[in-house]
Amino acid sequence: MKAIQFDRLGGPEVLELREAPKPELRPGTVVVENRVIALNYGDVFFIKGQYLVKPVFPDIPGMEAAGVIEAVAPDVTGLVPGMRVAYIGMGAYAEFTRIRASRVIPIPDTATFEQAAAFPIAVLTAWHLIHSCHNVSANQIVLVHSAAGGVGIAAVQIAHAAGAHVIGTVSSNDKADLVLKFGAQEVINYATHDFAAEAMRITNGGGVDLILDAVGKPTFKKGLACLAPFGHLILYGSAGGAPDPLDIRRHLLAKSLKVSGFVVPMVYAMREIHRRGLDAVFQLSRDGRLTIPIGKTFPLAEAAEALRFLQSRRSTGKLLLIP
Ligand SMILES: NC(=O)c1ccc[n+]([C@@H]2O[C@H](COP(=O)([O-])OP(=O)(O)OC[C@H]3O[C@@H](n4cnc5c(N)ncnc54)[C@H](OP(=O)(O)O)[C@@H]3O)[C@@H](O)[C@H]2O)c1
Repeated sequence: MKAIQFDRLGGPEVLELREAPKPELRPGTVVVENRVIALNYGDVFFIKGQYLVKPVFPDIPGMEAAGVIEAVAPDVTGLVPGMRVAYIGMGAYAEFTRIRASRVIPIPDTATFEQAAAFPIAVLTAWHLIHSCHNVSANQIVLVHSAAGGVGIAAVQIAHAAGAHVIGTVSSNDKADLVLKFGAQEVINYATHDFAAEAMRITNGGGVDLILDAVGKPTFKKGLACLAPFGHLILYGSAGGAPDPLDIRRHLLAKSLKVSGFVVPMVYAMREIHRRGLDAVFQLSRDGRLTIPIGKTFPLAEAAEALRFLQSRRSTGKLLLIP
């Protein structure tokens, strides 16, 4: 099969299109023929050796895709060949990927592969940030950083659907238009404006109730400064570098603030919470209240180019690879 492989750590330049052995079934797994592979910022960290999971060379990057089940191990129940699915799992930049059955999500007939490919990581991350890590309710003020990105644009729509007042931050005016179109009431260009000062102005000095932050170092401390009393900042990534250490007494006590973290793979082991998230996001999608804009589609062979684009800060929505 065709696959993108790498055998040293680095940037997109380490990726090569190669002929690789097709994965074989193991107990508890299925093999999926990938139709659409979604890029994630985590792929950048994975090829640098800075992700939760470390590469074993020669390795195949990619952790989210949608396709059709080709084969099912005898001990797996509930999944059959021919089923349309999406999944979270390593080795997605390829024509075929072996995936643990628990990481596979059957997709509704109404969902296209392009839309479904964004659900296992980007959309579920956004939903759990808003409804599991916090309990966003009507009229809360939610600030979403990198609001035009894959997770960001899903979070804007899910928070909007929950009745929140959504403020997005983006690094260009083009992205601002997209974020407003998807339900944010306000957008701050944080490349040209101090987002914390703007957030305080927009909220008449009251501050925001929740901040979704996957930027890290440049946004974390400023975020604490524009939270409302009892406000909550969730750190779920660090595209801009790891934040400075937190001094709980100095940074949190005065306004009774809360800081928490989140990673989506752990949710897959929590049956009830995972099911609740899946039912909710597919319902929002069916209701037309959650659509993931596809920023750009690349052939699998151009994976390195696609990752460069993701890192350029010019991309919006989800970037896809087609095998
Ligand atoms: N915890 C989890 O389980 C989980 C799951 C999925 C994703 N994430 C994290 O969520 C974030 C978004 O992921 P995504 O896949 O949806 O990517 P994305 O948002 O589509 O693309 C990355 C965006 O990050 C922003 N950014 C801010 N500082 C940056 C910098 N120094 N270099 C590059 N980009 C920077 C850029 O938007 P602006 O320039 O407009 O800010 C850029 O477009 C990433 O940090 C990722 O690691 C975490």
